Amino acid sequence: MKTIKDFNVLNKICLVRVDFDVPLSPQGQILDNFRIQSSLATIVYLFKNNAKIILIGHLGRPQGINLKQYSLKPVALELEKLLKRKIIFLGDCLGEDVKKTVAMMRSGEIVLLENLRFYKEEEINDPDFAQHLAELGDIYINDAFATCHREHASIIGIPKYLFSGAGLLLEKEIKVLTDLMKNPKKPLVVIIGGKKVETKIKLINKIAQVADFVLIGDLIKKELKEKNIQLKEPQKIVEPIGDIYGKDINPQTINLFKEKIATAKTIFWNGPLGLVENKLFTKGSEAIAQAIIESSAFSVIGGGDTIKSLKNIKLEDIGHISTGGGAMLSFLSGEKLPGVQVLKS
Ligand code: 3PG
Repeated sequence: MKTIKDFNVLNKICLVRVDFDVPLSPQGQILDNFRIQSSLATIVYLFKNNAKIILIGHLGRPQGINLKQYSLKPVALELEKLLKRKIIFLGDCLGEDVKKTVAMMRSGEIVLLENLRFYKEEEINDPDFAQHLAELGDIYINDAFATCHREHASIIGIPKYLFSGAGLLLEKEIKVLTDLMKNPKKPLVVIIGGKKVETKIKLINKIAQVADFVLIGDLIKKELKEKNIQLKEPQKIVEPIGDIYGKDINPQTINLFKEKIATAKTIFWNGPLGLVENKLFTKGSEAIAQAIIESSAFSVIGGGDTIKSLKNIKLEDIGHISTGGGAMLSFLSGEKLPGVQVLKS
């Protein structure tokens, strides 16, 4: 797979697919800028190398309709703040205005186009839509790891028309998650919380092949029992102690999980361990996060909900926090991500 560093980007128009799908308040305030922060390395690399940068992305699921609450404009303002550089925001991702602005771009300038999903053609991977987007640039860079499981025009369509490669974030996500599955320092301790066990069985079975222990949250335990689901490596599964309370793990379970975490050289965690929407039930997740921070293991945390549950914890010491939700689960479950495959072909 080619990466951004394989191209001479000087004075070239780089069409960069980013994942700016961030949570917004009803007033349009960005509630968490983690994904925007994670995209900065590639953007900075490109302007330092005097490329012309066109950022393309989506926000939410507007289903082909131009809806103000899904506009990427707040992201443009946040990017300006973070980069301390002007961002030229355009209210469409196609059309004459876009073409004119792009034709006048100077090296180092950054344009952000409006939400791609305002066109239904994006999600159905319409070839004309992909081609029109491709015509805007000289090189296509995919840095949207979190969207790589989608067969959308901006993910798998554009690379058919342009020289293409991975951005720095995509490259890093693939490397860290591949090493986690293929080459972890042992013992590997995995913690799986959250709910909707159906979406996690493949991941649990796959990661249990390499892990030493897989610690599961109350709700996962409950769903496994209720739905009579058998896991492939039951001897590696560590369940919460006692009756299923379902809202948070209890102190005995916290101690048990901490003991396992203390033995680890690598840790992977996905999914909160309680109903963390309610502040009363964040204690288990916070205690586990603290134990991970205090351990000397290399740690990987993934999934937006897991991060959201850790608002009071400083996560600087975590080895890698993945920007992917569904994309990360698919990748770790052993599925091929269409957005990555297309860059390899
Ligand atoms: C995500 O938030 O996981 C990605 O941006 C993909 O969004 P989607 O699930 O709406 O395709």
